Amino acid sequence: MKIIAFNGSARKGGNTSILINHVFEELRKEGFETELFQLAGKKIRGCIACYKCFENKDQRCSVKDDVVNECIEKMLEADGIILGSPTYFSNVSTEMKALIDRAGLVAIANGHMFKRKIGAAVVAVRRAGSVHVFNSINHFFFINQIIVPGSSYWNMGVGGDKGEVEKDEEGIMTMKVLGENMAWLLKKLHG
Ligand SMILES: Cc1cc2nc3c(=O)[nH]c(=O)nc-3n(C[C@H](O)[C@H](O)[C@H](O)COP(=O)(O)O)c2cc1C
Repeated sequence: MKIIAFNGSARKGGNTSILINHVFEELRKEGFETELFQLAGKKIRGCIACYKCFENKDQRCSVKDDVVNECIEKMLEADGIILGSPTYFSNVSTEMKALIDRAGLVAIANGHMFKRKIGAAVVAVRRAGSVHVFNSINHFFFINQIIVPGSSYWNMGVGGDKGEVEKDEEGIMTMKVLGENMAWLLKKLHG
């Protein structure tokens, strides 16, 4: 079984990546395949509200000149989806918002095509606003009928500079427990 994670941060090796990798560590211990897809540096734009996905119903976004359809394909193939984002002005990054809006609308237009996959948010934050980011990502999962496991705290790690999140022991532990719970749930669902 496979878990795909999208890192919405503009910094590839930053705190969001580090947190995702701690979740991955537990998943790999349990025999899951993992893949981290970086949105940083890739072309991605917001939804243009053309609603062609409701006409075409081909599990694709009609805007084809950026990375979104590749992301949708990876989501369709995976059993679990992690959406990781830093906190930017108390919300998800622009890149993550574009992915949420585009993949979310295509999924709904195609009969909730991510239904009953599992999903988890991972949030990096320097100081404040991470609960809003966590909620925004979970809103994507819940409206898409994606099943969301919890952890020992809300899935966030505290750190400003690149790598600083490693010092947040509780944040790292939260990622570890999240990985364990994702593995447990996937085995129950598909075991
Ligand atoms: C544009 C921008 C906006 C930010 N806004 C916030 C914020 O609202 N609250 C906060 O605590 N940190 C904020 N930060 C700090 C980042 O959330 C923090 O450094 C995080 O660890 C970055 O994760 P990364 O290393 O994966 O990019 C902001 C950083 C940037 C670049």
